Amino acid sequence: MGHVLFTRSWLDAPTRLVEILVLSPLSVAPEHQGRGIGERLVREGLARLGGRPEPLVVLEGSPAYYRRFGFGPAGALGLRRPSTRIPADAFQAIALPTHEPWMTGTVVYAEPFWALDCVGLR
Ligand SMILES: CC(C)(COP(=O)(O)OP(=O)(O)OC[C@H]1O[C@@H](n2cnc3c(N)ncnc32)[C@H](O)[C@@H]1OP(=O)(O)O)[C@@H](O)C(=O)NCCC(=O)NCCS
Repeated sequence: MGHVLFTRSWLDAPTRLVEILVLSPLSVAPEHQGRGIGERLVREGLARLGGRPEPLVVLEGSPAYYRRFGFGPAGALGLRRPSTRIPADAFQAIALPTHEPWMTGTVVYAEPFWALDCVGLR
């Protein structure tokens, strides 16, 4: 019916790589869309991150959709897109309790994103 994954990736921060999470992929089967399943997957997923060490969750997607979960422009946190193919407005992030101000820099996707060329809105 639907699924969500938080993929381990990296932030190329000024002093070292920091492990972060990318909210992707997220999908709901077409015949089940528009009934709140996607929203529940994201909310439940975020709730289960409590206690994890990663300081950030980033994603690329519609700001209108992800704003409701607390995501905002990733640039405001000093983050740069992993690819310029991602529209600037689509690049969003949420800071988790372990986030510290020095954690800025370029997001580096995990290898499958590059191997399967999953960059960019489809
Ligand atoms: C995006 C997706 C996961 C949403 O799942 P869903 O179960 O249909 O979503 P919900 O029922 O929880 O929420 C519906 C809301 O999402 C909005 N929405 C759905 N897809 C959207 C999209 N691509 N862009 C913007 N808004 C979208 C709907 O307009 C609706 O908004 P409203 O609550 O303000 O009326 C689903 O449409 C999907 O699988 N799409 C194809 C894959 C995809 O685009 N994944 C996300 C990659 S970032």
